[in-house]
Amino acid sequence: MTMNNLSKYEHFYKDSIENRETFWSAQAKNIDWQTPFTQVLDYSQPPFAKWFPDGLTNLCHNAVDRHLPTRGDQAAIIWTSSEVNDTRTITYTQLHAQVNQAAALLQELGVGLGDRVLIYMPMVPETVVAMLACVRIGAVHSVVFGGLASAAMASRIDDATPRLVIIAEAGSRGGRIIPYKPLLDDALRIIHVPRPKVLILNRGLDTTFQPDFDTFDWAEGMQRHVLARVAPVWVPSSHPSYILYTSGTTGKPKGVQRDTGGHAVALRASMEHIFGVKPGEVMFSGSDIGWVVGHSYIVYAPLLTGATTLVYEGLPIRPNPGIWWSLVEKHRVNCMFTSPTAIRLLKRSKAEWIRKYDLDSLRCLFLAGEPLDRETHRWIADALLKPVIDNYWQTETGWPILTNFVGLGLLETKFGSPARPAYGYDMHLVDEVSGKPVAANEKGTLMIHAPLPPGCMSTVWGDDAHFVKTYFSRFGHEMYATFDYAMRDEDGYYFIMGRDDDVINVAGQRLGTREVEEVLCSHPAVAEAAAVGVHDDMRGQKIYAFVVVADAGMTPSKKELMDLVGSEISTFARPKKIYFVSALPKTRSSKILRRAILAIAEGRDPGELPTIEDMTALEQIRKAVAAAE
Ligand code: PRX
Repeated sequence: MTMNNLSKYEHFYKDSIENRETFWSAQAKNIDWQTPFTQVLDYSQPPFAKWFPDGLTNLCHNAVDRHLPTRGDQAAIIWTSSEVNDTRTITYTQLHAQVNQAAALLQELGVGLGDRVLIYMPMVPETVVAMLACVRIGAVHSVVFGGLASAAMASRIDDATPRLVIIAEAGSRGGRIIPYKPLLDDALRIIHVPRPKVLILNRGLDTTFQPDFDTFDWAEGMQRHVLARVAPVWVPSSHPSYILYTSGTTGKPKGVQRDTGGHAVALRASMEHIFGVKPGEVMFSGSDIGWVVGHSYIVYAPLLTGATTLVYEGLPIRPNPGIWWSLVEKHRVNCMFTSPTAIRLLKRSKAEWIRKYDLDSLRCLFLAGEPLDRETHRWIADALLKPVIDNYWQTETGWPILTNFVGLGLLETKFGSPARPAYGYDMHLVDEVSGKPVAANEKGTLMIHAPLPPGCMSTVWGDDAHFVKTYFSRFGHEMYATFDYAMRDEDGYYFIMGRDDDVINVAGQRLGTREVEEVLCSHPAVAEAAAVGVHDDMRGQKIYAFVVVADAGMTPSKKELMDLVGSEISTFARPKKIYFVSALPKTRSSKILRRAILAIAEGRDPGELPTIEDMTALEQIRKAVAAAE
């Protein structure tokens, strides 16, 4: 079977690269076009790729309206919250009604074609409704993680210049209420652009919340438009659907701009060929709507497919570590997606929490966003007895670059590898200095030859030059830099080896932080590790490692861990210091904040930080370093 799958994949992939336009033209048939495109790709200004340029479409129509005749009574969204103990099912017909109401409300508030709307909301159905309402009228949403600090929110407002901000009065995390309104107020005090209007969903969580005289209330506004019908605004395929900010090397977040037509085609195709989710099935992405996985696989891809999306508000371990699996059983989930971090969190409890539920409906679990260490991969695969698929991609691409394929037919799994390139991605693994292709099993930097396939970022919001300079300036201006090191084995499987912009250089030897971390994590007592390259007068840099132990009773000695790295990579890779901590500082999208850790380790101020999952983690690093001085 595997051999068949392999040749099928190889044929499909080759076709996507060699017959690019016919390939994507066929995929585009799964999307409704109000005016069909006559040109598949406009690549007249490399590296900019405009997919289906003269086609007119609408994302909301494709995600909602087009399913009404056949699936009006089917659940579009099943929302469950362990924070407020509530569950709601919203059918496609109901979703359609709500989105129309919200679209009318946006119009009443002066939002029109091309206007930006900043959305700062928790994991509630209204967030999805707000996003869909924006794209229905051709407005451009920019969803920001709930809980982002005021200064960072202000810089996004300054960059996106939204006409409207939609927030909830509060979010809830682990049972703790987080008021959002004061954060927004602080942000609005320091912005440099005209003040946007503010629309507030009052969930009744923050009992001290008082609306201002100039803010608008979501429920009242929706009520004013109960029977509203707002026709979808047909936009050119390259019209921006959203902006999503992501950190780069510069520290200043970039606005990743996504188009409309290419986005719809790519996500719909990925559900078929990669995720293997059919219309009417149930997908559960344990992620956050404010992250790219949430945009793509909580909101748009399932709805574009006519599937049901399970939206979960809460932690995966609360009220107990079985909560996710109980939802899989209850709602007959077919496909699940989350991050390796979430699984590592679950790994601290017994696999019985998974096994006690009937997971018959579940076909597979996808994990992405960070390296999936072999131990965690094996642990969850053994607990579920289902395929667990490591897939590699970026905010910039919006859908998997390297992956295994449930829809096309699974390829052999190699632990530690996100398998092979997805159709449409022309991958090149090159030497980071010369730009020449590297041989099998040699490390290189991962590049994608332009044009990038549909669904990938069209530009940096408001800054085409920045887009070209950041991503397309390493080796000619048609090679997109992923900023990741990788290796490809003789079977064509890729292994991601960490960001090439997080390079450690010890005595002239370059190392990916991830290489060191992978070795540390291979120790049975280690749950997670972060390695940073600290300035060293003699050798340029030395490695400090911060280690989270899985089981406090089994804490290894520091020497044992140092020796392990020394023996697995080379003596130059041996960490000079090991610190034990109980958590690592991470962004909400599970990226370890190595730069902040490094700053603290070097006695510097970490400066402005992205939203941190757990603020105490950074404090622990500070204390661990101070105690060792
Ligand atoms: O370094 C790679 C890592 O995460 C980066 C992209 O992060 P983000 O923009 O937040 O998008 C996440 C979308 C899933 C990549 O440049 N990364 C992502 N997936 C993997 C990974 N590293 C190793 N293995 C992966 N599967």
